[in-house]
Amino acid sequence: MTQDEAKALVGKRAAEFVDEGMAVGLGTGSTSTMFIRALGERVKAGLKIRCVASSDASRDLGLSLGMDVVELAELPELDLYIDGADEVGPGLALIKGGGGALLREKIVASAAKKFIVVVDSSKVVGTLGRFPLPVEVVKMALPLVEKRLEELGLNPTLRRHKDGSVYLTDEKNYILDCACGAIPDPEATAAEIRGVVGVVEHGLFLKMASVALVAGDAGVTELLP
Ligand code: 5RP
Repeated sequence: MTQDEAKALVGKRAAEFVDEGMAVGLGTGSTSTMFIRALGERVKAGLKIRCVASSDASRDLGLSLGMDVVELAELPELDLYIDGADEVGPGLALIKGGGGALLREKIVASAAKKFIVVVDSSKVVGTLGRFPLPVEVVKMALPLVEKRLEELGLNPTLRRHKDGSVYLTDEKNYILDCACGAIPDPEATAAEIRGVVGVVEHGLFLKMASVALVAGDAGVTELLP
């Protein structure tokens, strides 16, 4: 099975977890896109739900599929949040933010009673840290935060587009991608980063996911924390 096939499979499976009348958070990224498309099919077939999106891109996709996508202020309590991840480690500790939506993703995830992570099996790791850890930073604070993260040994690089222009999040902040290597104690790393003034959010999602749906050659399996 290719990675794209795995993403499509797990996205479709995740859409089956949505019931009539639910308030649903929509994740961001290519796996979430598969989920949103599969959910859109169910909505087209008559499923009545309301959604909150974790990015402008997912909001636009949901609306284009005829889904009722509203602001979090209108729907602050969600039954379910479904989103991808860049890495899934022990205890369902996650690295997220490869797609740049970590801040809104964490906000929407925290508004949900249940958070289902959808990944292909290549994302499951024994120790987090192979994937660079994204840290969202207020523009003005960039030089200070960059220096502090360097001092912490986290090896930050300012995220740029392919054309060299600086990447901006939906909230108009910068992202520093930290090639910090293995993260043996994610709670400690999260606390260190959180302590840096000017950091808006980091991509460690700890004790947030309820279950991970993992797609591989054996089909979709469930991982619990
Ligand atoms: C976006 C995210 C994505 O969920 C993560 O990057 C995984 O993306 P994909 O499903 O495209 O591999 O955190 O900010």
